[in-house]
Amino acid sequence: MTTTTKGEEEEESSEQVVTPWDVSAGADGKIDYAKLVREFGCSEIDENLIERIERCTKTKAHPFLRRGLFFAHRELDEIVSAYEKGEKFYLYTGRGPSSESLHLGHLVPFQFTKWLQDAFKVPLVIQLTDDEKFLWKDLQLEDCRRLARENAKDIAACGFNPETTFIFADASYMCSSFYVNMVKIAKCVTFNQAKGIFGFTGDSNIGQIGFPPVQAAPSFPDCFPHMFGMNKKSLKCLIPCAIDQDPYFRMTRDVSHRIGGYKPALVESRFFPALKGESGKMSASDPTSAIYVTDTAKEIKNKINKHAFSGGGATIEEQRENGANLEVDVPWKWLNFFLEDDEKLKEIGEKYGSGEMLTGEIKQILVDVLTPMVEEHQKRRALVTDEVLDVYFNPTKTPKVFLDLFREYEEMEFGKWEKKKGGGDSENDDLCAALEEKMKLEGATENEEGCAIGAPKSEDWLRIRKERMQRDAPTEGSKSALKKAAKIKAAAEKKAAEKAAKAAARGEAAT
Ligand code: TYM
Repeated sequence: MTTTTKGEEEEESSEQVVTPWDVSAGADGKIDYAKLVREFGCSEIDENLIERIERCTKTKAHPFLRRGLFFAHRELDEIVSAYEKGEKFYLYTGRGPSSESLHLGHLVPFQFTKWLQDAFKVPLVIQLTDDEKFLWKDLQLEDCRRLARENAKDIAACGFNPETTFIFADASYMCSSFYVNMVKIAKCVTFNQAKGIFGFTGDSNIGQIGFPPVQAAPSFPDCFPHMFGMNKKSLKCLIPCAIDQDPYFRMTRDVSHRIGGYKPALVESRFFPALKGESGKMSASDPTSAIYVTDTAKEIKNKINKHAFSGGGATIEEQRENGANLEVDVPWKWLNFFLEDDEKLKEIGEKYGSGEMLTGEIKQILVDVLTPMVEEHQKRRALVTDEVLDVYFNPTKTPKVFLDLFREYEEMEFGKWEKKKGGGDSENDDLCAALEEKMKLEGATENEEGCAIGAPKSEDWLRIRKERMQRDAPTEGSKSALKKAAKIKAAAEKKAAEKAAKAAARGEAAT
């Protein structure tokens, strides 16, 4: 008998199940992550990749990365290789708004995304799938839309910079370029494939069956023309999430090349376990199953002391003699996520594992770590007013930061074009308009290779560009036609000026 750890539906099975909607441990009450990596076909993150990230960002790896909590990836190494050569990317993550507030597990991808954004200095988009939760849960669409805004306050409280972060809810944002991506993706996936990936059955409503392209589409930058322009290959995308979201992006990666985009890269985490143990579920209907970002200090203390599953000995004597089983102990697992000090964590593991430390002591340490963290979150959330939220949700901003981010590219690529246009303050120019106009000038198509911002241009790309410029250069015939047109225009202007002068002279004489 197994139950969900993610807090969604409950299910009876001896096989572990990990889908975006259900997560249940296997018969031993554990999630077998190595098996997931094998079955999903992603890769494990190794030391070498972590070192490369530290080197190219000049930032110490986040504890989630150092401790193997973000443990799997798809082509994160390629994003890093491109970044090492100067190529930028954007981050994309999300939340399905099904409850009033987030639990601590939900904070994991958002805290990590914040770190990625700061370390790599890249823009971020956050999708709130109010439509997904309406289709799957017993909720009205209007409730989901309200919850999206409430959840967005908690997400904003994680400290994302409003200038570099765009938060959107599907039911409000859906724009033409987003929809275009969705239908292109949808056409590439058969119902049989969708059944294989997501487990749809004849009972699934057709909104559910049609939903995956909605979560897939933001993997392509042209869903956000106000930020990234209309080129599907202007930027590569990196998606931080827990491994339950992998099926959406496996599907996305399979169809990317067919719709003319890059495959999104992924960095995926283990699950933050439920309070009552890895095989238990974190559920809004059972408030003692999880700690929520709205909990008071008293609630946090009570929940941990009364409900946190312990791997410690049943009695003090047993604990002193055998030590705790860290494999199943929830306070220990939670400290691995949220206690930043590596040395202190190591010491606790040694002492608690050997029996020198008692269960009550490790629980107290956890209370001392979580209480200020949650209180701090609540203070930051109180500062997220509707006005602040509107800045994150603003779909027309072309924030200055994008100009800064892409300045190098802009100077390189638009320098000549800007001059031809008559100079102007590039700071205040609309980068997106420039991107689009440049594409038009070059006759670039959305399927073109090698357009990523900051990407070193391959010889092929330079050759194609040269050929295109030669092709589009005015011919002798068109040059003389242009000259002729200019002459006619000048003569007409001269004639009009003379006529106006004569009329003015007549007027003066008459008065
Ligand atoms: P949702 O709301 O179920 O979860 C939001 C994010 O939290 C992660 N997560 C967890 N991480 C660690 N431990 C847990 N126990 C835990 N439970 C949930 C999820 O993996 C997710 O990253 N369909 C999505 C919303 C979405 C999205 C995206 C997520 C839309 N676009 C792009 C990631 C990336 C959902 O319902 O997430």
